[in-house]
Amino acid sequence: MAGLQRVVRSTVIDAPIERVWAVLRDFNSHDQWHEVVGQSRIEGSERSDQVGCVRSFTLRDGNRIREQLLTLSDTEHKSTYCIVEATLPLQRYVATVTLKPVTDGNRTFWHWESTFATPPGMERELRDTVAQGVYEAGFENLRRHLRLGSDQRAPGAVAMPTAMPMPTRRIGVERYGGPEELRPQDGEAAAPREGEVRIRQRAVGVNFLDVYLRRGWVPQMLPVSAASPGVPGMEAAGAVVDVGAQVSGFLPGDRVAYLGPVPGAYCSVRCVPAEWVVRLPAAIEDDVAAALLLKGITADYLLHDLGRVQRGTRLLVHAAAGGVGLLVCAWARRLGAVVIGTVSSDEKARVARDYGCEHVIVTRDYRFADAVQRTCGGADVVIDGLGDAGREENLAALARRGHWISLGQASGPLTPLAPDALVAKSLSFSRPVVFDYVSTQAQLAERAQRVWNALADGAIRPPPIERFSLESAAQAHARLESRGSTGALVLLP
Ligand SMILES: NC(=O)c1ccc[n+]([C@@H]2O[C@H](COP(=O)([O-])OP(=O)(O)OC[C@H]3O[C@@H](n4cnc5c(N)ncnc54)[C@H](OP(=O)(O)O)[C@@H]3O)[C@@H](O)[C@H]2O)c1
Repeated sequence: MAGLQRVVRSTVIDAPIERVWAVLRDFNSHDQWHEVVGQSRIEGSERSDQVGCVRSFTLRDGNRIREQLLTLSDTEHKSTYCIVEATLPLQRYVATVTLKPVTDGNRTFWHWESTFATPPGMERELRDTVAQGVYEAGFENLRRHLRLGSDQRAPGAVAMPTAMPMPTRRIGVERYGGPEELRPQDGEAAAPREGEVRIRQRAVGVNFLDVYLRRGWVPQMLPVSAASPGVPGMEAAGAVVDVGAQVSGFLPGDRVAYLGPVPGAYCSVRCVPAEWVVRLPAAIEDDVAAALLLKGITADYLLHDLGRVQRGTRLLVHAAAGGVGLLVCAWARRLGAVVIGTVSSDEKARVARDYGCEHVIVTRDYRFADAVQRTCGGADVVIDGLGDAGREENLAALARRGHWISLGQASGPLTPLAPDALVAKSLSFSRPVVFDYVSTQAQLAERAQRVWNALADGAIRPPPIERFSLESAAQAHARLESRGSTGALVLLP
C-alpha cells in the first residue's frame, strides 16, 4: 500500500486577512463560494465555527462528504479539518487552512494543505482532484466571491462599503391605533456604527407582536409621535450593504437574516447590531427566512426548553394554523407528542392537520376544555397565544401538573392570574419572550442552525406564506387581525 499523499497549494488573495478569514472560519460557508459544493449543512445543533462540528455536503458530481472541524484559531487564522465519511476514496484525509497578512496589509497569503491515503493506483488522480478541483478552483472561486460580492450573490446590494447615509422606505406609526396608522414614509439609514451591519432588506417577517406595538399595548417598546414615528417589526432577511468598525464575520453581499428586541424592521434598509444577525444558508430563500426565523426559534425554545415536549406529551396548541402554530405542530409531532390544536375554521383545520396536528378543535369562541379532556384526559403543556379569552378554558383543559405557557395575547391582555388559580392541579405558568432565548450571538447562531437543520431533515417545513408589499403593511395587519390568515405573513420592500 502506498504511503500518505500530500497536496500543498498556496496563493495570494487581493483582500485584507479579516475579510478572507470571515468567510473561511465559517465551516459551513463553502456552499456559498465554492462551485464544486452543492448543499451543505452542519449536523446536530452545533454552530458552524464550533470545534467538533460536522458539515455534511454534496458535491456537484453527486458525491457526498462529511467533514469534522478539528481546530480553529482566530488569532492564528488557521483551521484544521478531516473527512469522517465520503463516497470518494479519500482515506485519512486531514487538511489545514492557514492565512497570513501580506506585508502591505491589504492582501492575504492563503496556504492550504492536506495528507491522505488512496486505494492503490489512484494516487495521482486523487492528488489532481484535490489540488486542482478543490484547492486551485477554491482560490479562484473565493476571489470571485469577494470581488463580485453583491452583484453575484445578492442582486441589488452595493459591492463596496459606502459609509454614506442611504435612502430607506419605512412604515411609521405616528399615533397608536388600527392598521391604518401604518403609513409609508421616506427616511435615511445612516452608515453603520461600530458593531453594526447595514442590510438591504428583501423580506420582513410580520409577527403578532407588531400588532400589539401598533395598538400601543407595549408603549415602552415602541414610543411614537408625529415628530418621531415608531417603526414596528422585529425581523427581516436581506443582503449586507456594509459593516461598521469591529464587525467580523459579515461581508458586503452576504445573505443574512436577523431578529432583535428593538423594533424597526418595517423598512427597506436598516442598520442592526451584528449580534442579531445570522448568515443564511444558500438553500433558504429570503421570504422563507423572514417567515421562519423568529417563529421557528420560538417553536424550538417552546418545545425543547420550556415545554420539554417528548414522546407522549399531550400538547395543546392554540391558533394551530398560524405562523408559530404550524411550526409547533409539525415539530411536536416529530418529537412524538400527542398534538391537539384549536383553530377558528374548517379550512384552517385542514391546514393544521396537514402540518401534523392530530386532533383539531374548531372553535371561534374559545371553548375547547371539554374537547381536550375528552380527547386525551387533559393537556400536559398548553402553548397559548390567545390571551384573555381562553383564560378559564386553559385552566380547565390542563392535566394535573400541567404547564401553561402564555406567549401572546391575540384576543386581549391576560387579566392577572392569582397563584391560587394554579394550586388545585399543581399547575405551572410561564410568560416567555423569544429574545431572552437568543440574547447572545452564539445562542442565536445555535438556535437558527437548529431551525435550518429541522427544515433540512423534514421535522418542520415552511408554513404557507402570504406576501404583501412593504407599502401594504396596513393590509397585512388587517389580515392577521381578521383571524383569516394561515401560516406566516411577510412584507416585501
Ligand atoms: N413570546 C414569544 O416569544 C412569542 C414569539 C412569537 C409569537 N408569539 C405569540 O404567538 C402567537 C402567534 O403569533 P403569530 O405571529 O404566529 O400569529 P398567528 O398565529 O399567525 O396569528 C394569530 C392567530 O391567533 C388567533 N386568534 C384568536 N383570537 C384572535 C383575535 N381576537 N384576533 C386575532 N387573532 C386571534 C387566530 O387563529 P384562529 O382564528 O385559528 O384562532 C390568528 O390567526 C401570538 O400571540 C404572538 O404574540 C410569542
